[in-house]
Amino acid sequence: MTALEQAAEAIKGARKILAFTGAGISVESGIPPFRGSKDSLWENYDPDIIHLDYFHNHPKESWEFIRDVFYKYMSRRDILPNAAHKFLAALEREGKLTAIVTQNIDNLHQMAGSKVVWEFHGTTATLSCEHCGGKISAKEVDLEEEFPPRCEKCGKVLKPDFIFFGEGIPREAYEGSIAATEGVDICIVVGTSGLVMPADMIPIMAKRNGAKIIEFNTQPSKFTEEGMTDIFVQGKAGEEMGKLADILGIEI
Ligand code: APR
Repeated sequence: MTALEQAAEAIKGARKILAFTGAGISVESGIPPFRGSKDSLWENYDPDIIHLDYFHNHPKESWEFIRDVFYKYMSRRDILPNAAHKFLAALEREGKLTAIVTQNIDNLHQMAGSKVVWEFHGTTATLSCEHCGGKISAKEVDLEEEFPPRCEKCGKVLKPDFIFFGEGIPREAYEGSIAATEGVDICIVVGTSGLVMPADMIPIMAKRNGAKIIEFNTQPSKFTEEGMTDIFVQGKAGEEMGKLADILGIEI
């Protein structure tokens, strides 16, 4: 039996599934990953540019990176969910998948129709004022008109609501993600190198709670290499999950 067939059998018999996703699930939608290939973000930019201290001391330079790398992608009409996002949303509609914990900030799970999505690293969808607490949708901000964007109430530079290096995980997402690992039969791990803490503890906690780990990745991750993965489907997440939907007879 191939790994994909083993994954299909395991999903067929599962009652409660959690998905844990990383940048790799969005690569086929047109967004580059952070690591692992020549077009990866951290091969081309210094991660310090989105360290909280750098942002506070050099808001314009940090915002130039944020605008060019994150908001340019998010505003493009051609960046859409792929078959992997759609498969996970379909599993939720089937009542098998209870939550997604994502490290991604691209909102593609929600666009694919997933309802329970814990954004462990926050989101690009909103911006906040660290000074007065004001919050605004990214859709209401014109980065060409006012740059860097400022709070309408107090005039301070706004910060995107995704997590910068040196910043804590949003409490609600942290607590919701941990609760989501309880009692799951399967944790589907998709497109993550597994290198970033504390996000990497989510599949580890699911495993400790008795879950079988089914991993989709183009190459082995830290989870694969450390022997945590029970079924490793090597390939592109969109392609493989498209095939999985066919095997399971699930419309995506
Ligand atoms: N299908 C499946 N997996 C893929 C695909 C694909 N089409 N393309 C790449 N991958 C895999 C790579 O092999 C790699 O293991 O996706 C993974 C991407 O790893 P990272 O770029 O490290 O992304 P991620 O694990 O999500 O990074 C975690 O790091 O910089 C921080 O906050 C950022 O959330 C991010 C965190």
